[in-house]
Amino acid sequence: MVQPTISDPTKPAVLGAAPEGAGDPASVARAVREMFTSIAPRYDLLNHVLSFNVDRWWWWKTARGFSADLRRPGARVLDLCCGTGDMAFALHRRAGNSGARILGVDFSHAMLRLANAKSQRKPLHWIEADALCLPFPNQQFDLITAAFGFRNLANYDAGLREILRLLRPNGECGILDFGEPRGLMGKLYRIYFKRVLPAIGTLVSGVRGPYAYLPASVERFPSPEEMLGRMRQAGFREASWTPYTFGIAGLYRGKK
Ligand SMILES: C[S@@+](CC[C@H](N)C(=O)[O-])C[C@H]1O[C@@H](n2cnc3c(N)ncnc32)[C@H](O)[C@@H]1O
Repeated sequence: MVQPTISDPTKPAVLGAAPEGAGDPASVARAVREMFTSIAPRYDLLNHVLSFNVDRWWWWKTARGFSADLRRPGARVLDLCCGTGDMAFALHRRAGNSGARILGVDFSHAMLRLANAKSQRKPLHWIEADALCLPFPNQQFDLITAAFGFRNLANYDAGLREILRLLRPNGECGILDFGEPRGLMGKLYRIYFKRVLPAIGTLVSGVRGPYAYLPASVERFPSPEEMLGRMRQAGFREASWTPYTFGIAGLYRGKK
């Protein structure tokens, strides 16, 4: 097993997500799946409200960053942890008429049903599977993305290895996830993220756990320095991180 790189001494190296009460990988996966299934009906509304619609810009900017991959004729693209599909839809819009084949994968059936309902006649495909054990042969995809889902995996290094397995040589990966902004902005943001957001999320979704788990999971997620170290150790080339909106979110990129 690849050992995690500890390059930020303020954060302990972690294996993966740890929802309350979940210990082994199977119980982490179950807890995460149940959590997202419980909030699925209100997920989109809360996403847009709680992010002041900036989420749409983050997906758009991520898709734009992969224009070259998406516009290559016949490109094969996989969006992991696709939820209700917004990252996949942004990729589809960016691909234009290139004929890119875009697949979204998630292990919450409820989230995929919503993605499917939203996709209408768009040629997107939705598959129910665990991102740590995907039902595809090696070297199938030119681009693999994951928006706000990678942080929930039970084992980050295993997640990176699975992405690498599925990428073709020179294929690219893009992991968009939350970060922790620093300075004054960081202080203000933490008040919002740790107090206001969980209160509104709990009120609107009617479920307590998930919106308390969100800030805890971001706090636990590796720092950009550590995440880049893990990507390099897994075998990615040209690993980079680009902060979005003061580092509230950011895009990790790497090439096989
Ligand atoms: C925060 S949502 C993000 C959804 C979407 N990508 C977006 O940007 O709105 C995280 C999604 O990841 C899915 N997920 C978490 N762990 C997963 C895993 N191991 N395998 C597949 N899906 C997973 C959850 O079911 C959930 O739908």
